[in-house]
Amino acid sequence: MPRPTLPAMGIDTHIADYDWNAALAALAWQVEMGVTEVMVEAAVDRYALPEKQEPVVPKPGAKPKPEAVQDLPKADPVQVAKAAAAPCSDLASLRAALEAFDHCELKKGARNLVFADGNPAAPLMIIGEAPGRDEDLEGRPFVGTSGQLLDKMLAAIGHGRRAEDARKAAYITNVMPWRPPGNRDPSEDEIAMMRPFLERHIALVKPRVIIAMGNTSCMALFGKSSVLRLRGTWETAQGIPVMPMAHPGHLLRNPAAKREAWADLLDVQARMRQS
Ligand code: URA
Repeated sequence: MPRPTLPAMGIDTHIADYDWNAALAALAWQVEMGVTEVMVEAAVDRYALPEKQEPVVPKPGAKPKPEAVQDLPKADPVQVAKAAAAPCSDLASLRAALEAFDHCELKKGARNLVFADGNPAAPLMIIGEAPGRDEDLEGRPFVGTSGQLLDKMLAAIGHGRRAEDARKAAYITNVMPWRPPGNRDPSEDEIAMMRPFLERHIALVKPRVIIAMGNTSCMALFGKSSVLRLRGTWETAQGIPVMPMAHPGHLLRNPAAKREAWADLLDVQARMRQS
């Protein structure tokens, strides 16, 4: 394929104007179109460039680098997350610990940390998967179309994130506090490094009942995915009853699944009345 210049492809070369996700998407699109090389506006005299340096291979018997200069082993993100989450004694410090956590690549592409919404004194906690575009822009979970359906579902069982009476309120968070690029599913590693924060979040809120919405939250809470098989049967996480439910995004795409979701909601309502 001829090698077009970026402006000829309609791509702005001012890469600083792109955010991380947009730059990655533009690059992926070019690769998809078969571009293997990119030409710049001015010709580059490659003969004038310094020769490629061969990697330095230490001679046999050469003295090793002093300990202080040796490459340090990379920290295990799960251990770092555990150490960061454990001392958090309230939601403000948990939020600050997440803001300071730099081991999750998703953070680089996100506009905002999406921590939680609703009333932390609520008996009902909803745990979704990860922010989408609207949540990333606004910094609050479930504010897009899935969120609008979630609010209607909660209202149907007498709960709401803005309810004045804490007994009728709901508290909403996600497994991932940062938006995955292109709304892809979070990887197992990403879920594993967020689990210590989620566990601490649950321990601080102490809800009576949890709804796990979607595969990612079932995986994070009790190590099982396939929410459509799990839905309707109570699980337990940290000693708290958890109802796995189809994600509102799934219900929007598959309205026929709303009948089962309604049955699950009634089950949640009955359980709330008991406990
Ligand atoms: N889907 C989720 O799981 N969480 C959100 O916050 C938005 C959409």
